[in-house]
Amino acid sequence: MGCFSCLSPRRDDVSMIEGSGQRRHSADFPDHGKGGSVSNKGKDKSSQNGTGAKSFTFQQLINATRSFKVMIGEGGFGKVYKGKLENGQIVAIKWLNHEGIQGSQEFIMEVLLLSLLRHSNLVCLIGYCTDGDQRLLVYEYMPLGSLEDHLFVVDPDKAPLEWNTRMKIAVGTARGLEYLHCKANPPVIYRDLKSANILLDDDFHPKLSDFGLAKFGPVGDNTHVTTRVMGTHGYCAPEYAMSGKLTLKSDVYSFGVVLLELITGRMAIDSTRLQGEQNLVNWARPLFKDRRRFSQLVDPLLRGRFPVRCLHHAIAITAMCLQEQPTYRPLISDVLVALEYLASQPYNPEAHSRGSPRSPSPCSPLHA
Ligand SMILES: Nc1ncnc2c1ncn2[C@@H]1O[C@H](COP(=O)(O)OP(=O)(O)OP(=O)(O)O)[C@@H](O)[C@H]1O
Ligand SMILES: [Mg+2]
Repeated sequence: MGCFSCLSPRRDDVSMIEGSGQRRHSADFPDHGKGGSVSNKGKDKSSQNGTGAKSFTFQQLINATRSFKVMIGEGGFGKVYKGKLENGQIVAIKWLNHEGIQGSQEFIMEVLLLSLLRHSNLVCLIGYCTDGDQRLLVYEYMPLGSLEDHLFVVDPDKAPLEWNTRMKIAVGTARGLEYLHCKANPPVIYRDLKSANILLDDDFHPKLSDFGLAKFGPVGDNTHVTTRVMGTHGYCAPEYAMSGKLTLKSDVYSFGVVLLELITGRMAIDSTRLQGEQNLVNWARPLFKDRRRFSQLVDPLLRGRFPVRCLHHAIAITAMCLQEQPTYRPLISDVLVALEYLASQPYNPEAHSRGSPRSPSPCSPLHA
């Protein structure tokens, strides 16, 4: 079994994190193992690498998944299976496909970052397996799957995501990104923000997943890092796609695409739509400029059940995140504050159906 010594955090790489006015060393990062649901005692033969993620043997993961019986998803990295560890914890296990386009560098980055960073809006990495040439990742199981599954998979038996849930997901996603941009030191550019990578815990609490493409952000006087263009078509910021210049604002653009997906219920790229509508941002841009056409942007599955003023604000935030020029895009911390305000004004269908002309809320349709 691989010992993964290469994953021990280097102090000069990710050494400190800002927190409540104090700079903390990575050794103070909350430990996934401590107080977590995975114990390393008794019959459990897996070991921990000192950063919290545990090392599993391939046999342990065969046992956990009953020989990879239940597949719950598939991406560029490989297939994802549901499993149960010896201690009873339910997990999602991603098995690296040898022919997959993503390689071992992404695997190492994923283990490194998720071992060092911890936040309630980042998915928790429980462990990994580097047995022989096998590469697997063991995550906490997210019972509601990905945002993509809920926004775009039209299941007549399932209620569509309501406005308040969409706002909750937007806020949680912005919080996860704000942690990476503003609290991690050096900052982390996520690089692969998309609805498939926003996983949903009970009650639609969102968590970012897939850190294989993440990069440490520019430090000192540098304004950007230059890198091979990676990520997902439809979510990539234009300047990054053209020049490979990666900044924190590249993530803000991708966040704008996810916000637009939440508002419209349309996929970033949808080849089944009419020519001019296949690229979501290109289709939406002209509509941003005309308030009277905002209603055309709204997901018909919401059936008019949203607060119109909040919708207008949400569209304005989205348009700012999607500015062509990265310098005109807001910081994710500012986006978060704005979204938190919108989420604090929930849509109340009962109040709206009764109508309350004397005390309309700031987000009431009466203000439209
Ligand atoms: N921790 C998890 N808990 C529950 N389901 C998960 C978990 N991780 C992944 N999945 C499921 O597996 C699917 C595939 O995930 P994966 O990250 O491999 O691919 P992707 O993000 O869709 O695409 P790509 O990796 O190619 O960018 C997800 O959409 C989700 O439904
Ligand atoms: Mg993913």
